[in-house]
Amino acid sequence: MTLTEFRARFPILTRRVYVNSCSQGALSIDVEEAMRSYLDSWHQHGSPWETWVEEVERLRARFASSIGATPDEIAVMPSASGGINAIASALTFDGPRSQVVVGDFEFPTMAQVWLAQERRGAAIRRAHATGDSLPLSAYDAVIDERTLIVPATHVCFRNGHKTDIAGLVSVAHDRGAYVFLDDYQRTGSGPIDVHALGVDFMVTGCLKYMLASAGVGFLYVRRDLIERLEPTITGWFGRINPFAFRIDELDWPRDAHRFETGTPPVPSAYAALAGLGLLDRLGYDVVARQIAHLVERYSSAARDAGFIVRTPSESARRGPLVVVQSLDAPALVAKLAARGIIASCRGNGLRVSFHAYNNEADVDAVIGALLAESSLLERATSPAAAR
Ligand SMILES: Cc1ncc(COP(=O)(O)O)c(C=O)c1O
Repeated sequence: MTLTEFRARFPILTRRVYVNSCSQGALSIDVEEAMRSYLDSWHQHGSPWETWVEEVERLRARFASSIGATPDEIAVMPSASGGINAIASALTFDGPRSQVVVGDFEFPTMAQVWLAQERRGAAIRRAHATGDSLPLSAYDAVIDERTLIVPATHVCFRNGHKTDIAGLVSVAHDRGAYVFLDDYQRTGSGPIDVHALGVDFMVTGCLKYMLASAGVGFLYVRRDLIERLEPTITGWFGRINPFAFRIDELDWPRDAHRFETGTPPVPSAYAALAGLGLLDRLGYDVVARQIAHLVERYSSAARDAGFIVRTPSESARRGPLVVVQSLDAPALVAKLAARGIIASCRGNGLRVSFHAYNNEADVDAVIGALLAESSLLERATSPAAAR
């Protein structure tokens, strides 16, 4: 599949400049058809649970291979939050390792789940950012022999900063701590090999760069850790055989099924398989190259225009999201929408994110619109920027 053929799968791109994959990936005709085929199966067969569960297992296997894992290391969850809770509930904090190191760039869920463990004995320590940068040294300063786990977002949802996860794994493992990667703002935007990266746990979900809908998250657990963990957030789909219907015994599958809870997210699994199928057909290397090209074109043009780009300029320290500082980002998002450009904001940061379905014309359209609305953008030379 070529980039042009890939782009043609997304009808919205004929009507809008869509640069909001950091929030929700665009709808492809493939995902639409897959969701329709779920409805057809329901219409035609009434309750084809065997087919539906097989679809979820196909999704597990396909996702596993897309991140270099094996299917037994993957739990299919209703959300990334569900995956984080499963692991937090399986850990104990009453031994010599009770500390959780949380960086300033975490998505709220990741911080909140660990804060909730304070009642169970966890102590939270913070790795502090300097402005829009969170260097390894910030983690190095706080991870020690009391650290149990270091949850870390790969790409920050607020400013597009990409953390050095390989470096973090090395520091954390040297000191005996686990690393829990939150890859939600990156998965689908390029290749990843979780075994090579060495993380212990990872969560992500389907609705952004994996091009599907809400309702499915994935939890990866390193093979040798699975059987040591028994979550207290559990349910009948976390059993060896859910259909044994036991109410007098809690058994634990030897694989990552043990982290699941209730009925699997069947409709969203149809969508997710179609999204992953599309990405496979294009290839993750091609996806990554196109995104890097567009991110570079957009960031340089925004800098050349005198805007404040909060995302690092070093390619290794950024992903598919670029954030430019606005004076009133909600107003700017509305002005862009009126010009047919769909973007989003967090605080006064304007978020523009690229997928392989975007092209240079999209970048140029956004830059043109920003120049036209430049009264809403902070300038590198403005007094406010000197803060
Ligand atoms: C980096 C990151 N982590 C976690 C989440 C939350 O995922 P969920 O709603 O599936 O729990 C999001 C959602 O936007 C996110 O961007």
